[in-house]
Amino acid sequence: MMFHVRSSIASLAVALAVSCAGDDPSATQGSASTSDAATGDAPASATEPATTGADTGAAAARPNWVQDIAPLMTTHCVSCHIEGGIAPFALDTYEAAYQWAPAAAVQISAGLMPPWHAIETEECQPPLAFKHDARLAPEQITMFIDWAIANAPEGEPADAVPLPDPPAVDLVDTTATATMSGSIEVPGGASTLDYFHCLSFDPGQTSDVYVDGLQVIPGNRELVHHVLMFVDESAESADWEGGVLEDCNGGSGVSGALLIGGWVPGGLPIETPAEVAMRLPVGARIIFNMHYHNATGAPQTDQGTGVALRWSTTLPRYVGTFQLVGAPGAGDLLDAPFFIPAGADGHIERMRYVVPDLGLPELRLFAMSNHMHRVGVDMKVTLQRGDDVTCLLQTPRWDFNWQRQYLYDAEVEALPEVLPGDIIDIRCTYDNTLANPGVAEALAEAGLDQPQDVLLGEETLDEMCLAGIGVAVRPF
Ligand code: HEC
Repeated sequence: MMFHVRSSIASLAVALAVSCAGDDPSATQGSASTSDAATGDAPASATEPATTGADTGAAAARPNWVQDIAPLMTTHCVSCHIEGGIAPFALDTYEAAYQWAPAAAVQISAGLMPPWHAIETEECQPPLAFKHDARLAPEQITMFIDWAIANAPEGEPADAVPLPDPPAVDLVDTTATATMSGSIEVPGGASTLDYFHCLSFDPGQTSDVYVDGLQVIPGNRELVHHVLMFVDESAESADWEGGVLEDCNGGSGVSGALLIGGWVPGGLPIETPAEVAMRLPVGARIIFNMHYHNATGAPQTDQGTGVALRWSTTLPRYVGTFQLVGAPGAGDLLDAPFFIPAGADGHIERMRYVVPDLGLPELRLFAMSNHMHRVGVDMKVTLQRGDDVTCLLQTPRWDFNWQRQYLYDAEVEALPEVLPGDIIDIRCTYDNTLANPGVAEALAEAGLDQPQDVLLGEETLDEMCLAGIGVAVRPF
């Protein structure tokens, strides 16, 4: 047992030293992919549960599983780390979790788990916190590290604290639910684990409605890695056979659909602030771009994925809309053309969008999302008014696999206001070298082994630099 304790401390110390080796995001990104996770095998250290002080009659050491760690796992990890969840191993019982203690401490202290990418940096402190911020508090992070260093003690079952309820993921007061009619087969055991297919839903609204809540209902939790959501106003996707368009890459599969957000497993419903709701015109459809990730090794079927919506037919005080800003299409590209040479690291593309005067009395920002492909490593969105600069969102460790929507946690009156003439400035940074795991993966999928020159476009090996901004508009 002593041996295990020592080896865990040593491996944790080494691993922590590696993961803390500066703020270089690519260093920590690398550590996420050097993993035993794909196989579900625990790392070699800590292969036996630790004993506790039980036999001496002393009070169990803290932190321990039953009193400290289990509640945190329930609230922060188990939405994905559960049998049949998207993560490759469960963390919901002591038997499943203790062996992962060193790896968990490393992932948590490097800020990689739970996945959350809107991070404050020296150059970006957003004006408001984001709703449902998944990150652990500093003292909780310390607890995971101390637990790992003590070789993951279980504690005394008699001391177990009641587990908190996991965050409720169901949308309350749902008005309508639309479910996919067919099914999608995702091969198993292939070298490619990732598939992107689009689903089109008819929410069935019989007049224009105003949506203030929306939730993804995953049909197969082992498959659904992330979902991008679009509104298809022209209902072009109504033509898709069985409501499915296979292999639609990162987009919506139709022209002119509006990106309204991203969702990851365990994600809570997207709910607009009080008095804000998004217009869904009669006939408009919802499109999901489904990222299926099949790490199970066996063929899998998605059946029953759907969308839950809550709406009202009454015009709200503020109408929520989404505006895409950036490349392609929305704003002015500084330093045109958009071109990321093969082998370039730290390459920057910048977009500026000047807010037009639409004659509206009030515009406020309630949600932010951003989008690049696999070459992107950092993205920052700022709002500029004269010399005043407000950073709205930065994702300094961009990861194509973890796109989501960030909603400011505030009442509508406290949200950042936008005035005509304000500038929205978007800075996208790219690393087009093999040191970027995203590039290495995308090249491997395309059967290439060297970085390519990258242009603006929709394909996996093209790039984008887009921010999706949720704007609450007071219409009169
Ligand atoms: C939103 C889903 C989600 C949540 C929440 C989450 N994880 Fe994970 N975790 C994953 C997935 C998926 C992987 C597999 C690797 C990947 O895709 O990044 C993973 C991998 C890991 C790994 C292995 C990393 C490696 O590469 O060796 C550890 C350890 C881990 N998670 C611990 C945790 C802990 C501890 C928590 C809570 C504090 C947590 N995770 C919360 C989805 C999640």
